[in-house]
Amino acid sequence: MQKNELLYEGKAKKLFTTEDPQLLIAEFKDDLTAFNAEKKGSESGKGALNCQISTNLFALLSENGVATHLVETIDDNHQLVKKVDIIPIEVVVRNVATGSLSKRLGIKDGTVLPFTLVEFYYKDDDLNDPLINDEHCLILDLVDDVKKLDILREKGRLINDVLKGFFAARRLNLVDFKVEFGVDQNGEILLSDEISPDSCRFWDMDTNEKLDKDRFRQNLGNVKVAYEEVLKRIKEDK
Ligand code: TMP
Ligand code: ASP
Repeated sequence: MQKNELLYEGKAKKLFTTEDPQLLIAEFKDDLTAFNAEKKGSESGKGALNCQISTNLFALLSENGVATHLVETIDDNHQLVKKVDIIPIEVVVRNVATGSLSKRLGIKDGTVLPFTLVEFYYKDDDLNDPLINDEHCLILDLVDDVKKLDILREKGRLINDVLKGFFAARRLNLVDFKVEFGVDQNGEILLSDEISPDSCRFWDMDTNEKLDKDRFRQNLGNVKVAYEEVLKRIKEDK
């Protein structure tokens, strides 16, 4: 399948149409951004790493009952995906307090949460992706039925259960992550976008080293080395 027109360019991916109106090609870019693109950078090979990482994790999730948009991985940094209407809600799932949660609520960085926290953020760069609740989602018409929000929460928790165990076996602590969902032509809610060190926090269980985009956000260096380490651990047989 060939790339046709550029349909959309985001901060980390480009989406192209194909000859099949129901299928798109996603191209993973080497660009890195943080703080709503206030900080910009690029890391050669990062797109290919995220493409491989996300391919592996989507396959794992699919085997564990999470429907995804991924059809097949075409090459190093391209995936063939189902065309969906993205629900403009960033579903953030947290096991450990850090990042914006610690900042907003004053919870000490690194505190293990008493239960898995699921949050919704409105996917709108102009508004800086604000935290929203169920009523905001309805007022903004982000979903047509409040029950869909429960489905998103359930899917977020299931993804967390699968990934947390998978990474723990590989000595990585899944601290938190962000996922996005889309609705396909049959009305099915599919896990979409990507799951990668751009959208997750991974802390090494033995050294506490951060192996994710916080290395870029916090100028810790060795961004690509960290992403390579995550891919290496994913590929470990357990
Ligand atoms: P936060 O602590 O900055 O709210 O981030 C929570 C998680 O969501 C973390 O794993 C990083 C991820 N994330 C994204 O993927 N995209 C974003 O735009 C933001 C703000 C966070
Ligand atoms: N993805 C967001 C941005 O590019 C924020 C982040 O991940 O920190 O700006």
